[in-house]
Amino acid sequence: MTNTTKIPFLDLITPHQELETELLSVAKKAFQAAGFIGGPMVEEFECAFAKFCDTKYCVGVNSGTDALRFALMAAGVQRGEIVITVPHTFIATAEAASQAGASLTFVDIHEETYTMDPEKLREYLERDCEFDRSRGRLVEKLRKQPIAAIVPVHLYGQTADMDPILELAGRHNLIVIEDTCQAHGAEYFSKKDRVWRKAGSMGRAAAFSFYPGKNLGACGEAGAITTNDESMAEKVKMIRDHGQAKKYHHDMEGYNGRLDSIQAGWLTVKLRHLAKWNESRRALAHRYHELFDDVKEGIVVPREASWTKGVYHLYVIRVPDREALQSHLAEAGIGTGVHYPIPLHLQRAYRGLGYEKGNFPVTERVAAEIVSLPMFPQLQPMQQVEVANRTKEFVTSKIGDSR
Ligand SMILES: Cc1ncc(COP(=O)(O)O)c(C=O)c1O
Repeated sequence: MTNTTKIPFLDLITPHQELETELLSVAKKAFQAAGFIGGPMVEEFECAFAKFCDTKYCVGVNSGTDALRFALMAAGVQRGEIVITVPHTFIATAEAASQAGASLTFVDIHEETYTMDPEKLREYLERDCEFDRSRGRLVEKLRKQPIAAIVPVHLYGQTADMDPILELAGRHNLIVIEDTCQAHGAEYFSKKDRVWRKAGSMGRAAAFSFYPGKNLGACGEAGAITTNDESMAEKVKMIRDHGQAKKYHHDMEGYNGRLDSIQAGWLTVKLRHLAKWNESRRALAHRYHELFDDVKEGIVVPREASWTKGVYHLYVIRVPDREALQSHLAEAGIGTGVHYPIPLHLQRAYRGLGYEKGNFPVTERVAAEIVSLPMFPQLQPMQQVEVANRTKEFVTSKIGDSR
């Protein structure tokens, strides 16, 4: 937040002021016990978060990126196998797969949900891959590499459409690891099983980030894996701790990817408020929808599919002239963000994958138009009206100009 920003994009000061006494007592407890890494505070958080996600296990790690990488490794993804994800996500989703040794394939997103389009996934698996009898695996025709896993991303707090993704994964014997880094507490209605499921409970495992600005954020770096598979949980515990289940007995090479005790203690305190904060985000999102309801063109507001109960990590609109809207709002002291302006397949880091402009038209169109408006549980009604009015003023002036 800068001094000139009247309405920040994200307020991380107020919630910490509100919880200051409880947060400080956690730090005191850690100092008194000199317990800084692992231990009871981590275990307490892991139990509470597993319960929140309706999973049997949760393993705390150092970041969401570690969580994704460790989950893929623990699920058995091998060097040279292919991991499928979307180009419209934070780079960590793809980095984790590459760093686990996998090769990447992107499939496009759906224009309305901004999450993996199951039809594009089906097209890739059925048109570009074939079953290799000698290996007993689905293999990409071009690179002759086996397909190992799918990583759907529950972006902006909305879940991907998991039924068809899980069905395709089951049919082709592929692992599903959910990237739940932006969707703590989101829910998905499985039409197949007629039941609501928590994000993070549907794949073989799921990765969460507790980066400070997330719906559940630490006061530093932190992440977690959730799973119902005991062997996955045990394997991740080893990977996060140098490949050891017993001190100085290393069954494999692992990482230093443990969760700090103080961060875990702070997360336990904040977790008690998460359901209420998520409800506030949902209410704010619906209010934004209402405030924008009378603008009939020039703006696309987020659409919550009938099968998701979103937790609005971000409130992302689309306008044709994104940078001009950002400047207009900045002049009024309103902070905004763009998540994410350059699709992964067009990033220099992934030039080697051989993708080019035009390969993922939905992602490219969306990336050029998105703007994230202020969204945090403590956003005040008058602030929200100001954001909406300033946005509408811009959009209607643009429509006037083009007539
Ligand atoms: C979709 C997504 N995946 C992965 C990550 C990585 O999480 P972390 O920053 O905790 O490593 C993030 C965090 O920004 C994210 O938004």
